[in-house]
Amino acid sequence: KPRILSGMQPTSDSLHLGNYLGALVNWRTLQADFDAYFFVADLHSLTVATDPEVIRRRTRLTAAQFIAAGIDPERSAVFCQSHIRETTEVAWVLGCQAAVGEMNRMTQFKDKTSKGQSANVGLFTYPVLMASDILLYNPQYVPVGDDQRQHLEITRDLALRFNARFGEVFEVPEGYIPKESARIMDLQDPTSKMSKSSSSPKGLLDIMDDPARLAKKVRSAVTDTEAEIRYDVERKPGVSNLLVMASVLGDTPIATLEQQYSGRGYGDLKKDVAELVVETVTPFRQRIDELLDDPAELDGILARGAERAGEVALATRDAVFDAVGLLPAG
Ligand code: TYM
Repeated sequence: KPRILSGMQPTSDSLHLGNYLGALVNWRTLQADFDAYFFVADLHSLTVATDPEVIRRRTRLTAAQFIAAGIDPERSAVFCQSHIRETTEVAWVLGCQAAVGEMNRMTQFKDKTSKGQSANVGLFTYPVLMASDILLYNPQYVPVGDDQRQHLEITRDLALRFNARFGEVFEVPEGYIPKESARIMDLQDPTSKMSKSSSSPKGLLDIMDDPARLAKKVRSAVTDTEAEIRYDVERKPGVSNLLVMASVLGDTPIATLEQQYSGRGYGDLKKDVAELVVETVTPFRQRIDELLDDPAELDGILARGAERAGEVALATRDAVFDAVGLLPAG
């Protein structure tokens, strides 16, 4: 089977609907046809200063959210990025192939530093670590939302550069970016993506939030002054965002929804999206509570996942070290 891999940072006490619709829903579908690896990007989350206890809690919670969303740990490897030591080893080698200028041009780094935040070196080399945690597994596809496009581009560049210089060691992966749901937007500002760091609380749908509050946020989503329910991201970003949510959550094509809602008002669409959100999050929250009740079981799943991922990572690390001329350790 061809391989896929993806990761998510444990940076919050809840995934938001963008993470769920833009990434997890695809992971769940793809795991049937691919050899799948999904990890909690705990090393990446260290780029933001966070209390160690909080990191521990959110790492387990993020893994529990994968499973509650339908990732089957019997089928897919679910693990912590930091449990694979080869991640940082290969990141060093890749960092020696990366130019300071290309890291400087990364929008994520530029955005954070332009806001006057003082940046740590980890934030600067973030894309190199990500290239490593992808290339270690030689995946053909990396299912992500639109905001990870630039990271994937640099990963591909580094793989091509390495292969050209040292021989074909890495698979050059492709992004797997869904057409409509790759950018779920802020409910209050539908021209900006939904994001835990930049969205207003009223614009962000946290999956772990109280269902009644989630429904209320959907009902107060910003739309436009027309009255027509039609998918048009440029002119009707708010309505289009609601249509995407209804489409993925209810598994109905957008064109069908446009027909169903023809002649009806925004209130109807919002009410239906609110119901779909509540129907999705209610069992999700229950399953997470069960999983977190038994941390030993969850840690066991992560350990088994790391064992499986570790075998692949070790083989790649050895090939990378050998290719650049490092002697075998004996
Ligand atoms: P992270 O943790 O910010 O986001 C996890 C996934 O959610 C997607 N996403 C969205 N999709 C649609 N609409 C939105 N509003 C939205 N917001 C977030 C992201 O695109 C992502 O797929 N750097 C990565 C973590 C990472 C990674 C990797 C991903 C580390 N190593 C290797 C893939 C492969 C990140 O910070 O994602």
